[in-house]
Amino acid sequence: MHIIRRRGWEIPEHLVTPEAIAMNRRSLIKGVGAAGLLLAGGRAAMANDPAPTDNLHPYARNAAYTVERELTPERITSRYNNFYEFGTTKNIWEEAQALKTRPWTIKVDGLVEQPFEIGIDDLITAMPREERIYRLRCVEAWGMTVPWSGFPMKAFLDRAKPLGSAKYIRIETFVDPRIAPGQRRIWYPWPYVEGLTIAEAANELAFLVTGIYGKPLPKQYGAPIRLALPWKYGFKSIKSIKRISFTQERPKSFWEVLQAAEYGFWANVNPEVAHPRWSQATEEVLGEGRRIPTQLFNGYGAYVADLYKGLEKERLWA
Ligand code: MTE
Repeated sequence: MHIIRRRGWEIPEHLVTPEAIAMNRRSLIKGVGAAGLLLAGGRAAMANDPAPTDNLHPYARNAAYTVERELTPERITSRYNNFYEFGTTKNIWEEAQALKTRPWTIKVDGLVEQPFEIGIDDLITAMPREERIYRLRCVEAWGMTVPWSGFPMKAFLDRAKPLGSAKYIRIETFVDPRIAPGQRRIWYPWPYVEGLTIAEAANELAFLVTGIYGKPLPKQYGAPIRLALPWKYGFKSIKSIKRISFTQERPKSFWEVLQAAEYGFWANVNPEVAHPRWSQATEEVLGEGRRIPTQLFNGYGAYVADLYKGLEKERLWA
């Protein structure tokens, strides 16, 4: 396989997480795993803003979406997050508690029958809720398995009623530099933006997440609502969504604007296509410290491979 090695010249090197540093942080978390539990008692508590939909949890599990791997424990996944709005390290869970998740509205606009704004609790109440166990594979070569609670993106599309001319969905995270210190770093192209084709969004795997481990979603995971796209690298799973727009043009994502040589629109998981700075052949199982082979489409090819037929000339893999 031909591996292209490019320098990350678009942004200063210190802004990109080099693999070695990412790996060291992961080694660190192994130690912290056990000790972390003891420490947590003395530190700022994780507390969600109370919401009228809290008591809908736990959502009923949909057994069709399960995984043969062990679930990654909450004590690990809740202390190891990527949420650049709150900092560039994995340890942002305390900073993220500053996010105010109620009241919270989502704007739906662009090529739809009728643009609208909807309160998060009205949306949750109206949607068909369920729990699904999914893998997540981060482009940094670690993976986790978690039970997300939420509803299919397809149900949201049916509510949004896009026009026939809509080809893409552009999704945007909140902007509030007063509470999100990362957003005071003006060299980043805030807000965090991600995009999908309408066909991808309508795929049965595309899932809007409002909870995890049978409870409302804690803030560091992207409360009150985020995406889960298990066949794509984790950066496509945008957190704390404020706006969803239907467009004719392909949206440019946050990472694509920042570093187009390394991150593109499609970002499907493929172990045979290396990141310009590291291999994607294997992944570290978060919290377990062992590496396992990565699978094409993160193991979800049966659901999604057909979406990419005829698109072989596109840069389909990160
Ligand atoms: N969404 C926003 N708004 N900001 C981010 O920095 N990071 C992404 C994605 N969604 C990110 C985001 C990346 S790189 C990954 S791997 C996942 O969130 C991590 O999700 P987790 O912290 O719940 O594991």
